Amino acid sequence: MNNIPNTLFDNWAKSYERTIAKHQDTYPFAGYFDVINHLRGEIQAYYSTPSILDIGVGTGYMLNKISEGLTADYFGVDFSSEMLNIAASKLDGNRLLYWDISNETIPPPIANRKFDFIISAYTLHHFDTVEKLKIIRNYKKLLNTSGQMMIVDISFDSIFEREQIKAKAGKNWDSSEEKGYFIAPEFLNHVQQLDWHITYLRVSFCLGVFIILV
Ligand SMILES: C[S@@+](CC[C@H](N)C(=O)[O-])C[C@H]1O[C@@H](n2cnc3c(N)ncnc32)[C@H](O)[C@@H]1O
Repeated sequence: MNNIPNTLFDNWAKSYERTIAKHQDTYPFAGYFDVINHLRGEIQAYYSTPSILDIGVGTGYMLNKISEGLTADYFGVDFSSEMLNIAASKLDGNRLLYWDISNETIPPPIANRKFDFIISAYTLHHFDTVEKLKIIRNYKKLLNTSGQMMIVDISFDSIFEREQIKAKAGKNWDSSEEKGYFIAPEFLNHVQQLDWHITYLRVSFCLGVFIILV
């Protein structure tokens, strides 16, 4: 169950991008900019006019950077109106949808659409494993046959490793969110049991990308 209220994100919206910049080499954002370069490279290698859906688009920083210079057909979904307001200063506001992704229905404007890439960054750790898998299953239906879903999130190779990073992070560590952080081998195991095709790319000591195919 999602237990984080959207007001928390509304209150964070104005300073969110400053937080990323400040922690770009430390927990929790170490690797954030490497991911942007990686995703941009992947998308540009295969598509000149990609369709991209961003689940938990936030202020739109990542979606904007990966689609910059491309004729991208994109949509972003988020349940924080303040995050979406900031996203609308860089992206087309008509393509930013106010929606709670724990809702089992898909936002109507994209319900019949298909996407080459579905990305979700720093969003799914707000859900437990059952909810994570429900959201992935729900939105995975929107992938084109050769599409990829890329889950970018705080991730560790083991609970032992998570505890080591926690000790190093000290007061920066967010204990209220740690339960949702991915333990990569456990999550891979859950997904493989569903017979979905998944690979994992470790990006930094606290960040990983799960790539799920149709
Ligand atoms: C930490 S921000 C990440 C923003 C962006 N993806 C990035 O990487 O910079 C997490 C975002 O997920 C959104 N979010 C969290 N729970 C959500 C939900 N249940 N439905 C829709 N959006 C949600 C928040 O509003 C917030 O904008």
